[in-house]
Amino acid sequence: MFASNRRVKKWQFVQIFATCFILSLMVYWSPYANPVVSHMKSYSYRYLINSYDFVTNSLSVNRSSEDARGFQYLINHEDKCQGQDVLLLLFVKTAPENYKRRSAIRKTWGSEAYARSQLNANIKTLFALGTPPNPLERDELQRKLIWEDKLYNDLIQQDFADSFYNLTVKLLLQFSWANTFCPQARFFMTADDDIFIHMPNLVEYLQGLAQIGVQDFWIGRVHRGAPPIRDKRSKYYVSYEMYQWPAYPDYTAGAAYVISRDVAARVYEASLTLNSSLYIDDVFMGLCANKVGIAPQYHVFFSGEGKTPYHPCIYDKMMTSHGHVQDLQTLWKDATDPKVKTISKGFFGELYCRVIKIALLCKLRYTNTYPCSAAFV
Ligand SMILES: *[C@@H]1O[C@H](CO)[C@@H](O)[C@H](O)[C@H]1NC(C)=O
Ligand SMILES: *[C@@H]1O[C@H](CO)[C@@H](O)[C@H](O)[C@H]1NC(C)=O
Ligand SMILES: *[C@@H]1O[C@H](CO)[C@@H](O)[C@H](O)[C@H]1NC(C)=O
Repeated sequence: MFASNRRVKKWQFVQIFATCFILSLMVYWSPYANPVVSHMKSYSYRYLINSYDFVTNSLSVNRSSEDARGFQYLINHEDKCQGQDVLLLLFVKTAPENYKRRSAIRKTWGSEAYARSQLNANIKTLFALGTPPNPLERDELQRKLIWEDKLYNDLIQQDFADSFYNLTVKLLLQFSWANTFCPQARFFMTADDDIFIHMPNLVEYLQGLAQIGVQDFWIGRVHRGAPPIRDKRSKYYVSYEMYQWPAYPDYTAGAAYVISRDVAARVYEASLTLNSSLYIDDVFMGLCANKVGIAPQYHVFFSGEGKTPYHPCIYDKMMTSHGHVQDLQTLWKDATDPKVKTISKGFFGELYCRVIKIALLCKLRYTNTYPCSAAFV
């Protein structure tokens, strides 16, 4: 009794000490925009506060119903999902000029025909985009887009300028479309157009989850306690007016994440009540999810910004990898080769792949790929 009492007191002391330490950091170091300091601040902030109600309250808006409808559709496919049991609605964020990327995606992981014939899954792949931002090339590029869509029927375009600072507008397009035209899809995914998705692995995983009727599901590469960037030179600069707090709620890297349909519906509802001027789309999604009490789960084989090591032992488990444009088709061929599944089979196969994965993922020098823990799952 006595001992445990003392332990409690000691623990309280540590907590009070830590709080004071962090508060003093915030007060004395705030003039310095050092990334280490700002990460320490934002991290401690997240773990001490761990509730963002006041944040979402501060960002509440009363949107008029007209406003909430968003921009007008220029290209749409309202009946894409109609009357169908859809496992995965996959939105790829693309820009008007990225025809080559879309073309490679259609031939590889985005192929609905491949999913149907090889994986026995009904997936819908759509490309979300705005209008060409450069007025000089707008008309010609728009004509090309309409031609492209006639061939493939997979573009969803709204009438906003397609630019980095309109990414949240694009996010709202995706959530609005999903909830209006495809609310029955079991899972919703959003991905960049320079990403690789191991569709056989992902579909197998999602089919298992669909069978147990998973809910409250949100998975990807989780950022915990990330600080807003206050350096004006950065692409990700966020002003205090836009976001005044030292840390964002947990969110998944926008490169690729998956949510279940109940989460898609609730996040969409929340998105209509928050100020969407924050143009970092994955952070905005995190704010919406936080408002409705949904937290992300970390999946070690979702890569965020990082790139996969090229090895069959990795392909066996991988889900996504970032930064693939030139090598997309060769990676698709290698990663979906049936040999990948046999290499890690049996006692020696398992041992071999374990050693390879440790060698590739657990380097002391930081490499931006899957975490070391991915070698042990
Ligand atoms: C939104 O409207 C409600 C009632 O119509 C009001 O109580 C609330 O204060 C308004 N919020 C903002 C941010 O204007
Ligand atoms: C976002 O799109 C709207 C509508 O086209 C446009 O008025 C605005 O300038 C765009 N914002 C940026 C930062 O490009
Ligand atoms: C949203 O926030 C911005 C600041 O980032 C502000 O200028 C704007 O007025 C806000 N919009 C609404 C509708 O409150």
